[in-house]
Formats: sequence, C-alpha cells, structure tokens
Amino acid sequence: MSARIIGTGSCLPSLVVDNRKLEEIVDTTDEWIRSRTGIESRHIAVEETTTSMAIAAAQAALEDAGISAGQLDLILVGTISGDCVFPATACQVQSALGAERAVAFDISAACAGFLFGLGIVDAYMKAGRIRTALVIGAETLSKMMDWKDRSTCVLFGDGAGAAVLREEEQGILSILQASDGQKGDALICENRRVNNPYRENSNELDYTKMNGQEVYRFAVRTVPQSIEKALDEAGVGADEIKYFVLHQANIRILEAVAKRLGQPFEKFPTNLQKCGNISAGSVPVLLDEINRAGKLQRGDKIVLAGFGAGLTCGTAVLTW
Ligand code: ACO
Repeated sequence: MSARIIGTGSCLPSLVVDNRKLEEIVDTTDEWIRSRTGIESRHIAVEETTTSMAIAAAQAALEDAGISAGQLDLILVGTISGDCVFPATACQVQSALGAERAVAFDISAACAGFLFGLGIVDAYMKAGRIRTALVIGAETLSKMMDWKDRSTCVLFGDGAGAAVLREEEQGILSILQASDGQKGDALICENRRVNNPYRENSNELDYTKMNGQEVYRFAVRTVPQSIEKALDEAGVGADEIKYFVLHQANIRILEAVAKRLGQPFEKFPTNLQKCGNISAGSVPVLLDEINRAGKLQRGDKIVLAGFGAGLTCGTAVLTW
C-alpha cells in the first residue's frame, strides 16, 4: 500500500503586487526581475496570516478529497513563517478543522517543507501508523523580508497549498529527502536571539539573507540528481512523467533542470510569474492549480520536488 493524493486546495492573499509597484519602494526594475527570475507579480498578505491561509487551503483540499476532518490521522504543516513560535500552525489548523483524532505538528525545511511532509506521511503509512493525512505548505515570507533589500524582497510571495493523502494501492512510488547543513549560511533568517536579564543588546530581530548564486548552484546540481535517483528507485523513466512540479524559485533553475533531464520545458508547469517564490507553499499551490484545471488523470505519473534553505531537497515520484 502507498500514500495517494486524493485532494488538493490552496489559498492566496487578495493583494497582488506587480514588479512596477516594487519599483516604487526599492531600487529595482520590472525588466531586472523578469529577466533574472521570470517573476511578474506576487500575492502579499495584509489581512491573511500563515494560519488563516493554511486553514483555507486545508478546507478546500478536504472538500476536493470528499472526506471529513474527523477522518484525518495526521496533519503536517511545512512552514518557516508560522504566526506563533508555539503552538504549531498544524495544531491551530487541527483546531479550526475539528480534526480531533489527528496528531499535528510543523516541519521546518523551508521550500522543501511540503515534500518533507510527504516523506513523513509515506513512512507513517508504510509503518501502519496512519491511513489518512493532510499535508500543508503555508507561508507569509513577506513579514521576514527586509523591504529595503532589493536582492531578496522581490523574489517571494505569500500563500498556502494543501493535499489530502489516503492509503491506497498506488500513490507515492519513491520519495527522497536530503539536507546539507554545511551550506546553511546560504539562506538564513535568524529567530529571536538569546535574550534574558543576563545578556545585553540581544533583542533585535533579523531578516532573510540569501547568497542567491550559492542557492542557484545547489539547485541546478542537486535537483536533477535527486529526480534521477527518485525515478530510478521508482523504476520509472523520465519520458513516462507527465509533469515535473518543481519549487517555483526561478524560471532559469527550472529551465536548467529540464535541460539536464533532457525533458521538454512544457512538462514543467509554472506559476512563479504570478506567485513568486512561496517557499513551502510553492509546490502544493501549483499542484492544486494543475489539478483544478483538469490536467491530471488518474494513473498519470508525476514528479514533485522542493529545495531551499537548510539547504534541503525533497523529491517524490508518484502515481496520480
Ligand atoms: N533589482 C535590480 N538589481 C538587482 C536586484 C533587483 N531586485 N537584486 C540584485 N540586483 C543587482 C545586484 O546588486 C548586482 O549588482 P552589481 O553587479 O552592481 O553588484 C546584480 O544585480 C547581480 O546580482 P546577482 O545576485 O549576482 O544576480 P543573479 O544573476 O545571481 O540573480 C537571483 C539573483 C535571482 C537571486 C539568483 O541568484 C537566484 O535565483 N538564486 C536562487 C534563489 C533560490 O532558488 N531560492 C530558493 C530557495 S528560497 C527558500 O528556501 C526560502
């Protein structure tokens, strides 16, 4: 038996900020952002929160799956931008849904958070511990950006995506998770520093800092390798894959991965043009878009891959 995705959902903030709007607040241009990243606009939270979007995405996914919250055994939220340090976003989602039976916790794996969640579901199901699970990727990275730093604030957007998984004959065929803590400095946002009556000057919060080129090199090397290995383990050829649903950081990364795999770019759906990089939300939001557009038929084989801070990388091959 394996974990099969039976429903998806997503939620994006109502405010859309295009590149021209950003020209008003930082020294950038629409041309620079488009040509370096492919991004044209992004959704930015004003009234929405990580938790509210996670709940909305979860409700849509449950409806799509046709199951009730009471059937869930496990709720996982991949996030690096939860509204509270504690309780976990997943526990807040559990409460809002009324999913009383479920165990709920968060996963901190940045842009690979949703994929790491699928990895946990796969392992729990294989161990016979759960039958039904909800995995969410939800972020409001806009609150962790330095809006004076043009090298980071133009790249990210807010939003949440979710998937319901159930134990079935066919589903996840292979799933890989990898971490390279040695390169943790390439993408970092500090939390509260040590702060107590015995320490001075410790209370300032910091914003996201990124060595873009280091992350870029990591992505174009690690992601194709990881996909090839996952395909190998699944016994599936790249030509059999209908869609490669990859983390939406930069269109040039997606093009490089397609080239290295020798696959046509049409197999790589994108929404980064309108959403930017939603970190853990990227893959499930895009998956929901494709699903709701009716582009997936039962039995299709697809690849999902997320990569980001940690550095982390998660890849899955699955049957729809
Ligand atoms: N507008 C105008 N100019 C800019 C901007 C901007 N928004 N940002 C940077 N520049 C300038 C820089 O200052 C630099 O100027 P200089 O040459 O005078 O010093 C120049 O543009 C080139 O900057 P680079 O950083 O070298 O640009 P690069 O071509 O590497 O593109 C980018 C930067 C888009 C960030 C790219 O490196 C990238 O996509 N990296 C991968 C990011 C990624 O995948 N993140 C995923 C993980 S996210 C997560 O886990 C939360």
